[in-house]
Amino acid sequence: MKHFSFFVAVLALTASCATTSAAVKTAVVPQPAEMTVLSGTLTLPATVAVSGPDSLADRLTANASFFPGIELRRTSSGAGRITFTADPALPAEGYSLTVSPDDIDVKAADRAGAFYAVQTLRQLYNPATRSFPAVEITDWPRFGYRGFMLDEGRHIFGVDQVKKVLDMMALNKLNRFHWHLTEDQGWRMEVPGYPRLATVAACRACDRLGWKDQQPDSTEYGGYYTDDQMRDIVAYAAERCIEIIPEIDIPGHSQAAVAAYPEILACDPENPHEVWRRMGVSDDVINVANPAAVKFAKDVIDHAIDIFPYGYLHLGGDECPTAKWESNPQCTALLDSIGSTNYRDLQLNFYRELQRHIDAKPARDRRRLIFWNEVLHGNTSMLDTSIVIMAWVGADKAAREAAEKGLSTILTPQIPYYINRKQSTDPSEPLSQGTGTETLERVYSYVPMADVPDSLAGRYMGVQANFWSEYVSTPEFLEYLMMPRLAAVAEAAWTPQAERDYPSFVTRLRQLLPLYDRMGWNYCRKF
Ligand code: ACM
Repeated sequence: MKHFSFFVAVLALTASCATTSAAVKTAVVPQPAEMTVLSGTLTLPATVAVSGPDSLADRLTANASFFPGIELRRTSSGAGRITFTADPALPAEGYSLTVSPDDIDVKAADRAGAFYAVQTLRQLYNPATRSFPAVEITDWPRFGYRGFMLDEGRHIFGVDQVKKVLDMMALNKLNRFHWHLTEDQGWRMEVPGYPRLATVAACRACDRLGWKDQQPDSTEYGGYYTDDQMRDIVAYAAERCIEIIPEIDIPGHSQAAVAAYPEILACDPENPHEVWRRMGVSDDVINVANPAAVKFAKDVIDHAIDIFPYGYLHLGGDECPTAKWESNPQCTALLDSIGSTNYRDLQLNFYRELQRHIDAKPARDRRRLIFWNEVLHGNTSMLDTSIVIMAWVGADKAAREAAEKGLSTILTPQIPYYINRKQSTDPSEPLSQGTGTETLERVYSYVPMADVPDSLAGRYMGVQANFWSEYVSTPEFLEYLMMPRLAAVAEAAWTPQAERDYPSFVTRLRQLLPLYDRMGWNYCRKF
């Protein structure tokens, strides 16, 4: 009797697992543009031949670890069980995927399309049975720019953790890693000719930053990326079809650099300067009227261009107090000479010099500049119309203003796309910014480009989630805040608005959590 009930219990458990795993297999995030689940499943043998051009099929064979239990073998003779074909008729980064009970057929617009087909297959795969559901999918992204920004100025997480972040992005079909490498509280990139960036600007006299009444602690803290490490990360990202956009946030948010080179960067070199130990916005900005400071900026840019081989460079531009310029005779004289009374124009004049420097380079080394939206408070006609406005504060309005000025724009609304903010009002939620209102649902519910007229739509490049690290110093906390809200932003970035639905998203997401677990990712379960 005892044995019998054990047998029944096992049967019941098996049946319930089968139901769960059947559901798991059709869950894809972000939701594909078009997807039909067919009847039947494909169960693969332990060794599977993969055919098609290297540039596409390699996206699968290089990621064989996504398919535990299956050994993937390239074949050049005849069709494999998994076949890749180039299809230039598909939209950029798009793919079509047919899983029949016999084989898998992938058509891809390009290398990225093949990679995204593999991400979809990875989500559909049931490792317990080496099987996939039969499906037909035609899929392409809503936006060409699908970003995630990580602030490593306040806290640095290191090469392995950045790679983990890139893995999280890849699963979610995000394709731009905006790497915020410089801050008042730390400079994280080595630059030839400026050794004190590594020995001074990368170090600070506290780990925990001060805020209001909370004093900084006294733990020595620091770190930076060497050239080799940055190149390693660039290569790792490229394997995942992710381009890296470095951000050198100048002339504001630069106190760490000023502390390292006060004689060329400070507006008041006679005063002491230290890497900042508090949160908030420091007024210790770069003296944009000092030619040596402009040369410093050019040297840093040259190095960033050398390391990061892509079309965009972010020069920050947010929250740049002008008080120090207002009391510096070199700066007031420069403002006079450019015929303005708006100190914000000193910042734009600085950018104009940097832009001219970049424009004089061979085509391969030129970059389009991205700025935070405060740059719109100056005379943007001083800058090229190729600049891109990253809209964060009053994002919809700022993006619209940029678009109406003829500029391209990226939506990264502080509320709710700053996914370092608390995601729950539960008292157990660890301390971070915000009050817990940026829940998963709130993040999901943001509608990009609501009410944008067709005539301006082409100026909107895409969306991005941002992660600021004032309160966050451990990988576990970083992941807990990022995930699964990153997936919510990714669905806005990828899926047609008409196909987006929060209850469906949550159902699919829950079914993907075993995959998160297999990857060893920490994530918030409060949804
Ligand atoms: C920003 O949040 N300061 C761009």
